[in-house]
Amino acid sequence: MNSIHPSPGEPGFGTGASLFIDPRTCIDCGACADICPVDAAQPAEQAAAEDVERNAAYFAEKEPLDATDLDSWEAPSYQVWGGGPRRVLVVGAGPAGMYATRELLLRTTAEVTLVDRLAQVGGLVRYGVAPDHPSTKQIIESFERIARHRRVRWMPSTDATELQDSFDAVIHAVGARRSRRLGINGEDAACSAEDFVAWYNGRPGAALPVELVGPRAVIVGNGNVALDVARILLSDEERLRRMDVSQSVRQTLAASGIKEVVLLGRRGPDEAAYTQPALQELLTAAGDRVELRYHARPTDWTSAGLALDDGTSIAAGNLFTAIGFEGKPIDGLPFDPDRGIVPNVRGAVVGHPGHYVAGWIKRGARGGIGVNKACAQETVMALVSSSRGPASPGS
Ligand SMILES: Cc1cc2nc3c(=O)[nH]c(=O)nc-3n(C[C@H](O)[C@H](O)[C@H](O)COP(=O)(O)OP(=O)(O)OC[C@H]3O[C@@H](n4cnc5c(N)ncnc54)[C@H](O)[C@@H]3O)c2cc1C
Ligand SMILES: NC(=O)c1ccc[n+]([C@@H]2O[C@H](COP(=O)([O-])OP(=O)(O)OC[C@H]3O[C@@H](n4cnc5c(N)ncnc54)[C@H](OP(=O)(O)O)[C@@H]3O)[C@@H](O)[C@H]2O)c1
Repeated sequence: MNSIHPSPGEPGFGTGASLFIDPRTCIDCGACADICPVDAAQPAEQAAAEDVERNAAYFAEKEPLDATDLDSWEAPSYQVWGGGPRRVLVVGAGPAGMYATRELLLRTTAEVTLVDRLAQVGGLVRYGVAPDHPSTKQIIESFERIARHRRVRWMPSTDATELQDSFDAVIHAVGARRSRRLGINGEDAACSAEDFVAWYNGRPGAALPVELVGPRAVIVGNGNVALDVARILLSDEERLRRMDVSQSVRQTLAASGIKEVVLLGRRGPDEAAYTQPALQELLTAAGDRVELRYHARPTDWTSAGLALDDGTSIAAGNLFTAIGFEGKPIDGLPFDPDRGIVPNVRGAVVGHPGHYVAGWIKRGARGGIGVNKACAQETVMALVSSSRGPASPGS
């Protein structure tokens, strides 16, 4: 979650007497309480006052970690949005849309219409977070409670473009799910992390686009998603049986014969995007079957393997690309193709009063679930402090 500190690599890790939970990125999923071996993690309302104060003091001087893009974010000081109920459309029921909805319910009298193309709330928490991290997925229960709130009209399986109604404001929280492309020969025969992850998580309509062929797979990318893909590929049948995956996913993975994974980073280990806890988790499980190769750039992918720009090649049955994601343009709104986002000022879409963005479509595809909480708060703060005319989904 990146909210528990000090974490590996930070001063005090493994030597201090206490761990601290950053309220700015904590997503209230309760996982820390579940895993703490000495039952020391407690909700703030049950903890001793001096512990709450010590926790606050630890973070008082620190920038929010994993939230460099939110440097300008300050603790919200809200005016309640006056003038009686207002109608707000929230498009997307992933973390950003759910935190924005929660914030609107807490801070305003707004009636919220919440839509998602998918039949269930959660976005990438449901269909991205790896199935061997069930405690992370617990946050979905609190998202479901938000969707059942009496001031929320939850419309599953609905695309925003289908709506004709007009709203006082629209918050677009549609995520950034287009896989970045490597641009090498043979890439179409590779499997993107987006496809692989959607398949093992059972997203409706998702299918595995390649046949899994052992004994070696290469994964291009050095982010946490690349490590998720490696961990799942290297899970044996017993480990797979403990995960919430379908029988057909379990059987396909177990039968793949993939025993070894090469992770390719185009830069060095110090620049890798993965977090240390994620790397340690992979290496503890399967360290002898993982090769980390840095300063390596692929040029061609064929059935014989992957050619690199230094003239060497790696024999492998499958190539996976896990090199990040970017947003897609939204009809009627401006788009920055270089950053893959809708241009905005603290969530307010530039030049389009009444339209707001939150989450990955606002900041780009970076940051864990918790970062979307502060991000959505900033957007709702921009919304309640502005006055504008009616907005409709595509205007
Ligand atoms: C593979 C993967 C694993 C991850 N694992 C972790 C993890 O373990 N821990 C962690 O902290 N973070 C993890 N993250 C990051 C985390 O998932 C993101 O920070 C977060 O999901 C971004 O939230 P979002 O709401 O912006 O986007 P999403 O979660 O993508 O939600 C967007 C929602 O909008 C909906 N939508 C899109 N277009 C429309 C439309 N036109 N009409 C209606 N609905 C629409 C989509 O269906 C989706 O439900 C992971 C990310 C990935 C890609
Ligand atoms: N457990 C968790 O908390 C968890 C799990 C999954 C995801 N997440 C979060 O979700 C976000 C997205 O994760 P992600 O892994 O998709 O993206 P990411 O963290 O941005 O990592 C993308 C990786 O791909 C590399 N890359 C990009 N373009 C490339 C190219 N053309 N050729 C070769 N390599 C290329 C990047 O290298 P460069 O650094 O050189 O650009 C980087 O190593 C991150 O913030 C991540 O932390 C969190």
